[in-house]
Amino acid sequence: MSLTSNENLMEKIVSLCKRRGFVYPSSEIYGGFANSWDFGPLGAELKLNIKNLWWKKFVHQRDNIFGIDASIIMNPKVWQASGHVSGFTDPLIDCKECKARIRADHLAEGYNIELSKIKNTKKLSEALKKANAKCPLCGSENLTEVRNFNLLFKTFVGPVEDESSTAYLRGETAQAMFVDFKNILNSFHPKLPFGIAQIGKAFRNEITPGNFIFRTREFEQMEIEYFIKKEEWEKHFEYWKDQMLSWIDEIGIKRENIYLHEIPAEERAHYSQRTIDIEYKFPFGQKELYGLAYRGDYDLKNHQEYSKEDLTYFDQETNSRFLPHVIEPTFGVERTILALLVEAYTEEKLEKETRVVLKFNKKIAPFKVAVLPLVRNKEEIVNKSKEVFNLIKENFVSMYDETGSIGKRYRRQDEIGTPFCITIDFETLNDNSVTIRDRDSMKQERVRIEELNDFLNEKLNN
Ligand code: GAP
Repeated sequence: MSLTSNENLMEKIVSLCKRRGFVYPSSEIYGGFANSWDFGPLGAELKLNIKNLWWKKFVHQRDNIFGIDASIIMNPKVWQASGHVSGFTDPLIDCKECKARIRADHLAEGYNIELSKIKNTKKLSEALKKANAKCPLCGSENLTEVRNFNLLFKTFVGPVEDESSTAYLRGETAQAMFVDFKNILNSFHPKLPFGIAQIGKAFRNEITPGNFIFRTREFEQMEIEYFIKKEEWEKHFEYWKDQMLSWIDEIGIKRENIYLHEIPAEERAHYSQRTIDIEYKFPFGQKELYGLAYRGDYDLKNHQEYSKEDLTYFDQETNSRFLPHVIEPTFGVERTILALLVEAYTEEKLEKETRVVLKFNKKIAPFKVAVLPLVRNKEEIVNKSKEVFNLIKENFVSMYDETGSIGKRYRRQDEIGTPFCITIDFETLNDNSVTIRDRDSMKQERVRIEELNDFLNEKLNN
């Protein structure tokens, strides 16, 4: 019987993640560091699985999407051209009493202030005052005026720290796809429509990060800039919406927890002519998981103007040159992980205990198989177990575990979502067979060692 409720779900997930090695607080021995997190061995595998599946679906399985891996610190002119230096801001408000820094738009939501009707920071300040908005931390109404805060992280390149050496950590991976657009044209001569894809870190000096790995200052994006003819944008927008939803299905996020949120014009990012946020029902509310935007020719036009390079595309069919338009599907890796953890977390009432299982889709599970010797003080059983581990580890990411009772080890593997446990017992020494236990049904069956790879292949890869 499944017991999982939303009560304390985030706390349970955060605690499991730390206990079992998915996600640790960063720099913990120094007291942690401002909403930064480290992915432990399980989290690192989970991340790799997500990124590899994404790359396979959106790059390897297509002949018109080109994958790149660009620099994180780019020429600062990139961020001037893109509009990030002037326009990549969030509204900030300070509490004069407790010195808390708060996202003014998030505060406004709590007072049902309709942001779409508010044109600037002055109007937002007025609306918050009228609503008698209070600091969410100390309750004081003694708040500053709202002002815009730039999210780009600044750094200095080279030994001198002055204006001329200022550079930025990229605020989105997308810009590299526009900056390398001409290189891709020259190397591969693709025809429209085609895309450039990238997976990598992005950095934002978020005012209020939080909700575990949902909003952090350093995170990974998986993005595609899909270059199209202007007149075809609606068709491609629909196509990419469907592709994003099919990805959501494939990784095991239930559609009933997904909402498509059409962003009104006043709330869209500075570059977008249409945006749909794909939202997920997180335990702390319905929030953006992914985004789909029609960026028009905003980026190529600006880069062409700032760089003075010709970024037009020559269309042989019409014998004309123009700047392609862009549809951008964007996916956050950490938010994918959080949504998958929420989907997978299950508590089941057994006869004598409650078992916690992460029912990950098998493609997503960090480890596919655990090899468990029934006892660790019998040399033949340990040797046989290592033999089995060596036999399968080439084909399946596997874990060898001999610590604790077999029951405890099963629970441990349930908690990290391992689809199959293989137990080597006394019988194995006689019949060369092992017990395979299925994570979800807990059913056990005997399989001959020489048939193990085929058995697992059938179960895990189909
Ligand atoms: N290139 C478009 C772009 O960057 P965005 O909506 O600002 O659009 C894209 O970000 C995705 O990156 C989001 O849908 C989300 O999954 C992820 N993301 C954005 N900010 C984040 C943060 N502070 N922490 C974790 N993930 C974040």
